[in-house]
Amino acid sequence: MRLPRSNRLQALESYPFAVINEKVAELRARGIEPVDFGVGDPRTPTPEIVREECKTALDRHATSGYPPYKGSQPYREAVAAWVKRRFGVELDPETQITSTIGSKEGIFNFPLAYVNPGDVVLCPTPAYPPYVRGTQFAGGSCYFLPLLAENDFLPDLDAVPEAVARKAKILWLNYPNSPTGAVATLDFFKRTLEWGRERGILVVNDEAYSEISFQDEPHPSILQAGIEGALSFQSMSKRSAMTGWRIGWTAGDTDAVLAFREVKTNIDSGTPWFIQDAAIAALQDDAHVKAMVKEYRIKRDLLADTFVGIGLPDCRPAATIHFWQRVPEGMDGLTFAQRLVEPGVAVVGTPGAWISDPAPDGGNPGHSYVRFSLVPTIEETQTACARIKANASKLLA
Ligand SMILES: Cc1ncc(COP(=O)(O)O)c(C=O)c1O
Repeated sequence: MRLPRSNRLQALESYPFAVINEKVAELRARGIEPVDFGVGDPRTPTPEIVREECKTALDRHATSGYPPYKGSQPYREAVAAWVKRRFGVELDPETQITSTIGSKEGIFNFPLAYVNPGDVVLCPTPAYPPYVRGTQFAGGSCYFLPLLAENDFLPDLDAVPEAVARKAKILWLNYPNSPTGAVATLDFFKRTLEWGRERGILVVNDEAYSEISFQDEPHPSILQAGIEGALSFQSMSKRSAMTGWRIGWTAGDTDAVLAFREVKTNIDSGTPWFIQDAAIAALQDDAHVKAMVKEYRIKRDLLADTFVGIGLPDCRPAATIHFWQRVPEGMDGLTFAQRLVEPGVAVVGTPGAWISDPAPDGGNPGHSYVRFSLVPTIEETQTACARIKANASKLLA
């Protein structure tokens, strides 16, 4: 049966990923295996201590029962302990932390707590799509804040018209930032939180990559700037290679956490007990995180040195698993990505424009970029780098 899809679904724009996907399929048909930096799903195995804890927890929860919507008490306490240890911030697990089924679920559903039709949500661009999609599904509209190299990929809040700010309920931030790899300082968080408080706008930072940082100092959390009016979304996916386990949390402003819980009680029935227990084990161990960051750093440097070696700017990210490479002067990201998937090179990246929405001035901040996600192995990355070097003249022509 073919029913017309809802207006909401029909209104969504999809990007022409087919152009690159077709080329990748052609390569495979010719027996050429591309090195795929296109999809940001880490292939590192989940640490053994986490998998072992999950096996034991399965038996511990032999009689299942629905888990609490807000997350089990031990899980929320483990989150509070981790936030205290990592950021020095004291949170009440009863009222200031709630579990999510991965941060995508939380980010997408959160606007339902506050956004009415006609309300505005301030969204960065380029950015992780659920900030926009969650806003649209809640009936709100997005005002885009372009992340530009000249502003260190931070939003320019002075450029937001006061009339827009007055209608805004939420400001989404994402530092460390995907896809630009940019970082923020505690001072930036303090200034932004103050800006939000003055205007009655919740400042929400997606902190999925807070642990994947190549800086000497650990990356700050928005919660270090203050709890009132601030919220962080955290994820176990990248920190502990648990993308398939679907667990994260949101923490901060009491009213926002409680409002979000109210939304969630109508949508889902919590994260499985044994996954929460496994996440507790992951949060209590830092060694696996250090080892993973070391590997990402090697891949980041291999790629950065290769691009610099062929004459492109040094776009080495300060954090995250993403690499936002500026393409040759006068070329656009799509052209560069298409040249990279030609048979002699066979390297897959995502054209920046496909993951960026146009800014209020009409320009697309991703136009001159290609995103590479550092998910292939070190050996695969070396192969990709060798092919890029060998084909430099064709890529840059
Ligand atoms: C910026 C950002 N936030 C959140 C997520 C989603 O994390 P989770 O797996 O917890 O849903 C991703 C996943 O790629 C991401 O890139």
